Amino acid sequence: MNHVVLTGDRPTGPLHLGHYFGSLANRVELQHRHRMYVLVADYQVITDRDLPGEIQRNITELLLDYLAIGLDPAKVMIFQHSAVPELNQLLLPFLSLVSMAELQRNPTVKDEILHSSQSAVSGLMFTYPVHQAADILFCKGTLVPVGRDQLPHVEVTRLVARRFNERYGTVFPVPEAMMGAQPSLKGLDGGKMSKSRGNSIPLKATEDETAALIRRAVTDADRRITFDEERRPGVSGLLTLAGLCLDRPPRELAEEIGDGGAARLKSVTTDAVNDFLRPIRKRRADLDEGAVRAVLREGNATARERAALTLEEVRQAMGF
Ligand code: TRP
Repeated sequence: MNHVVLTGDRPTGPLHLGHYFGSLANRVELQHRHRMYVLVADYQVITDRDLPGEIQRNITELLLDYLAIGLDPAKVMIFQHSAVPELNQLLLPFLSLVSMAELQRNPTVKDEILHSSQSAVSGLMFTYPVHQAADILFCKGTLVPVGRDQLPHVEVTRLVARRFNERYGTVFPVPEAMMGAQPSLKGLDGGKMSKSRGNSIPLKATEDETAALIRRAVTDADRRITFDEERRPGVSGLLTLAGLCLDRPPRELAEEIGDGGAARLKSVTTDAVNDFLRPIRKRRADLDEGAVRAVLREGNATARERAALTLEEVRQAMGF
């Protein structure tokens, strides 16, 4: 089947290995077989912070990450919220399709509120999943490669699509989520790997930075390395990470390391990660920032055309 694939990221900091094994690797595969849109979700940056911060810098860094992992601008439309007003306009009718109660019980939103440093929770925090429905539906997306934390948002999108179609006649497909090999990778402190929690390995980190990050990872005092996610989350997290990079089962690595202890585990993991990321980092270093910006301008123009068509269809269906 031919899909329209849509996915994206907030430009809040460098992409890391959690993103890679959660969703990025899938994208690189999918671009060869399907029409694909990748969103730089710049308006979503202000869900959990007051200011967009170094937004231009972060957007450029995100584009560099995308091209470094192998997204091909000849195949993929890369675009940003703030350049596509027609997409954003879908938010208003979509908001009318969901209840406050539904917005308030979104588990990912609840978790983000828990980890937010803001003193007040904004209205956008509760409504951005509906905006995300506009992201996915503006191009009639049918497949959404994401990590586990995004599943509730894809559910909101499915709800919005179904309800819109029921009320106004069929306009939208009901999209499906697609999770990667490791939909929720553990960070170096045993919690969920996340930009904002300082426990991640950025794709663009240098080899030395990677080694330093892994050296500081939380493990335990038991010298014998075993894979036990329940009782040894730190050790198992590193084994999982090394396993993904080496494409080998973590239990097998544990047996090999045996009595080598945390030191051996960390050196194996560091080598695995650095070997895995070397070609990606090399490609990133060779990219030209000006050319990368031009990719975004082109993607924006294409996305705008697509969004205008959908918005017109929505207006017609609703009788405006
Ligand atoms: N919320 C996603 C994240 O934080 C980014 C995102 C925005 C997204 N819009 C999307 C992902 C649409 C998939 C589809 O990573």
